[in-house]
This record gives sequence, C-alpha cells and structure tokens, in this order.
Amino acid sequence: MYWYYQQPVRIHFGQGVLRKLPEVARSLGGKKGLLVTSKSFVRSGASARILQESEGLLAAVFGQVSPNPDVKECDACAALLRQGHCDFVVALGGGSVMDSAKAAATLCLTDDPAARYLGTGEVLPQAHLPLIAIPTTAGTGSEITCVSVLSDHSRGLKSPMSSDGFYPAVALVDPELTYSVPPYLTACTGMDVLCHAIEAYWSRHHQPVCDALAVHAARLVFEYLPVAYAEGRDAEAREKMCEASVVAGLAFTLPKTTSAHACSYPLTNLLGIPHGEACGLTIDYFIRQNAELGCARVHELARLLGYADAGALADAVGALKTALHLRTDLHDLHLSEAQQAQLVQGSKHPNLLNNPVEITESMLRRLYAGLC
Ligand SMILES: NC(=O)c1ccc[n+]([C@@H]2O[C@H](COP(=O)([O-])OP(=O)(O)OC[C@H]3O[C@@H](n4cnc5c(N)ncnc54)[C@H](O)[C@@H]3O)[C@@H](O)[C@H]2O)c1
Ligand SMILES: [Zn+2]
Repeated sequence: MYWYYQQPVRIHFGQGVLRKLPEVARSLGGKKGLLVTSKSFVRSGASARILQESEGLLAAVFGQVSPNPDVKECDACAALLRQGHCDFVVALGGGSVMDSAKAAATLCLTDDPAARYLGTGEVLPQAHLPLIAIPTTAGTGSEITCVSVLSDHSRGLKSPMSSDGFYPAVALVDPELTYSVPPYLTACTGMDVLCHAIEAYWSRHHQPVCDALAVHAARLVFEYLPVAYAEGRDAEAREKMCEASVVAGLAFTLPKTTSAHACSYPLTNLLGIPHGEACGLTIDYFIRQNAELGCARVHELARLLGYADAGALADAVGALKTALHLRTDLHDLHLSEAQQAQLVQGSKHPNLLNNPVEITESMLRRLYAGLC
C-alpha cells in the first residue's frame, strides 16, 4: 500500500503560548502584520491587547469575520493586506477566522476575488503571505490544515478549498483562549473534532499515520468533551480538547473528510445549523451504513475505541449528542419535502466520494426523509 504523509506547520502548544507571538513573527521575518479576527474579539478588547503586546509588529486589525464567512469578507481582508503592504498575517479566532485569513493571505498577492476559486475547481496560486494561526475554539483544526471553508451566499454555496499555500507557517495553540467558549459552542466544536477523527479513519484515502492520530483524537473526545461542556474552566478538559482538535486536524488533512461533512455543508447553508452540530447529525447514521455495506474499518475503529462493534460506537455517539443537548438526528429538523430535495442535491459534494462505500442519491433521499 502506497501512502504519503507531510505536515509542514510548526506547532507550539500549551497554556500561555500566545505570549510567543512577537518572537514567532520575527522568526518568519515579519515586520508589518495584520491581525484578522471576529467582532467578538474586537468587542472584548482581546484584539487591541494583542496589537499592543505585539512589539510593534502588528499594524492593524481586520475584525469583520462572521461565522460561515462569505467570499466578500475574504476579499475585503485581502484588499486591506494589499493596501497596508503587510508581510504576514495573524488569525485569532475559530475556523471561520482562520479560513478567511488563509484565503486572504493567498489572494492578496493576486487581483482575484475568492469567488473565482470557490467551488469552481480552479487551482489556487501557491504564493502567499506567512500565516500564524491562533485557534480560539477546539474544533476545526484549521490551524494546521491546508483547507479553507468559505461560503458564497449569492450562489447558495458553502464549500472547502484546498491548497498547499493554505498551510499556516505556525500554529499557536493556547487552551486558555477556549475557556470563554460557551457550552453549546463547546458541544458543536467538539462534535466536529469527533467527526474529523472518524471520517479520517474510514476515508478511502486513509493511511497509517493518520489512522493513529484519528484514534488518539477520538478517545480524547469521548473522555474530555463532556467535562469541557459541563465545566468550561476545567483546565485539563480544555487542554485535552485542544489536543484532540489539533491531532484530529492532522488526521484528516490528507485523507480528507467524507459523508457527514458533505451533508453538513447544505445543512449549515440552508438551515443555519452550526458546522459541528451539522456534521454530528448524520455521523451515527453513516457509522451504521458504512458498516452494513461492508466497510470493516468501522468495526476496527469501534474496537480500538473500546466498543464491541460499529453499532455500539454509533450508540455511544448518539448518547454523547444527547448528553451535550445537541440535536440528535434529522427527525429533530422537521424537514419539508422541498428542503429534503435541496439537501439531497447539496450533499452530492466531492467529499462524498471519499466515503468508503458509495452513497447513492436514493440513500440520501431516505436519510433526509427520516426513513433511516
Ligand atoms: N479549515 C478547516 O480545516 C475546517 C475544518 C472544519 C470546519 N471548518 C469551518 O470552520 C467554521 C466553524 O468554525 P468554528 O466551529 O471554530 O466556529 P466559528 O469560527 O464560526 O465561531 C463561531 C462563533 O464562536 C465565537 N467564538 C470563537 N472563539 C470563541 C471563544 N474563545 N469564546 C467565545 N466565543 C468564541 C465566534 O466569534 C463566532 O461567533 C465553519 O465554517 C466550518 O465549515 C474548517
Ligand atoms: Zn469539520
């Protein structure tokens, strides 16, 4: 079996590593940086504080990134990088901020809008400004992946784009930054980590290094997510969930995500369901379905995680969702027939092809009709 592994991101992990920012920026040759973040970090004063403590290396803040960021926000960020003649980028936030910053760090060296590349298959240029990614949620793993997920709301589209130029130069993973994440967002982002791990393991492009990472990350989620959800200031649980997020990111970057993520994009786009909760809505269905259709690796993963078989793993995922007060399955959404049809079409996403067994249109129809 041929396999390939690479991981170009330098990772600093631990309480207080945010303080390394000036030193890390200098190591990249950065002299004039832009801090990209979301409104909540501007409001809380965190972005102003980071600017102040940057020893003059950060020149300005772009604080406009929304959840499920639109290509237009990314274009505005790229324009600011161009106008300010910046030579590096710092992203402080969840997946939405990091994904916008990644795309902007590439697009600022072109005159292209992000829409030229999103969902079109056009290959992105490799040249980019160096990016320092500082996650504030334990979820996407975007700080170490080469993926940027953007939306083009004018086209009703949400989709990932991959480019080697999107790998951040450095990830600063400071668990303290996640203490303020409220319980519902903790649950959603934690479910995202679990789906990354499970989908990486069964992806058609699975490989041994990523398998080991996926198992480690999934174990951590089952043990520590309920604790982080119940007690947001539990330092050990927050740290272990940050570890799970980074490790699951390393697990899925190369094998890529599969069916549950393919279905999550239209669920978020049409119904506004947060990314991790949207992934979690179908993951136990796909655990059962993939096993039933002959994917032995699902049973193998279940046993490595301490469950008897795929059915027991699916039950454990269902119980975890219930304990986290997340919506457990599609019945909770009361979908109209028109919505079901839109979701079926939207789920026929390239990631579906990474699933270990073929997911047909009639299977998607039954899934969204609530017949499974
Ligand atoms: N690039 C990748 O590899 C990858 C992987 C999975 C998902 N994604 C994408 O990432 C996005 C989801 O990212 P996310 O789940 O991190 O959420 P998010 O970045 O959309 O943030 C959700 C909300 O939480 C707030 N928030 C963030 N950190 C906080 C903190 N420490 N305290 C309080 N509030 C905080 C944000 O301001 C925002 O309002 C989706 O668009 C998803 O598709 C990307
Ligand atoms: Zn995800």
